Amino acid sequence: MTTTADELRDQVREHYAASARAVTDGDGCGCSCATGYTPEELAELPDAAALASLGCGNPTAVAELREGEVVLDLGSGGGIDVILSAKRVGPTGVAYGLDMTDEMLALAQRNARDAGVANVHFLKGVIEAIPLPAESVDVVISNCVVNLSTDKAAVLAEMARVLKPGGRIGISDVVAEDRLSPEERAERGGWVGCIAGALSQGEYVAGLEAAGFEGVSVEFTDGETDGIHSAIVKARKPAAGCC
Ligand SMILES: C[S@@+](CC[C@H](N)C(=O)[O-])C[C@H]1O[C@@H](n2cnc3c(N)ncnc32)[C@H](O)[C@@H]1O
Repeated sequence: MTTTADELRDQVREHYAASARAVTDGDGCGCSCATGYTPEELAELPDAAALASLGCGNPTAVAELREGEVVLDLGSGGGIDVILSAKRVGPTGVAYGLDMTDEMLALAQRNARDAGVANVHFLKGVIEAIPLPAESVDVVISNCVVNLSTDKAAVLAEMARVLKPGGRIGISDVVAEDRLSPEERAERGGWVGCIAGALSQGEYVAGLEAAGFEGVSVEFTDGETDGIHSAIVKARKPAAGCC
């Protein structure tokens, strides 16, 4: 029996709601436990935010955030990257977190309060239809979430819509080698576990270029695990008047 896109999204929501509950109940981290953060960054975070980390990298480092910028984190989970972004952009900047799972939003709000950051806003919604106006964001970040989407083209188009001209993306994600077919990716792991839905490197580059991005790069960051990698994804929206 095939699983529909709506059923897959429900499975993703249920899985991450359970992860949020596990952290809230003190059962520790669900998956990768704050991969890629420096000890200094971890020291800036409430314990629950680090424990709730389910990412596969550190997109705040990838994006090289600057004072005063508006940052949007797609699939913000327990809020780790929103909190770090809020600290990087300072009081003149803003960090938005977008997530579809109520339990994650509640956990993120609590973590942001405990971290003492005021310049954060958590939004409920899906990354395929971002609830923000066009050209309102300087930087889109995301940590291990694009692979979970059942409509990657919509996500990439939405990133291009909400970014200001000249804006950029800095994403950590799970990415497959081009040699792996979708079926071979699914043999290596499930959708909710961030494997079956992974784009290949070539698909990611082509998708970002089709959405209008330039300067696209998708670089593997770890040793190969049967053709599946953690990766850093970077791209820019062309500047106004450009091209
Ligand atoms: C693997 S966790 C990563 C969380 C966070 N980025 C981190 O690094 O800890 C995936 C998160 O994305 C959210 N998510 C997955 N698919 C989504 C979608 N289509 N729209 C909005 N949120 C989504 C889940 O609710 C969950 O909080």
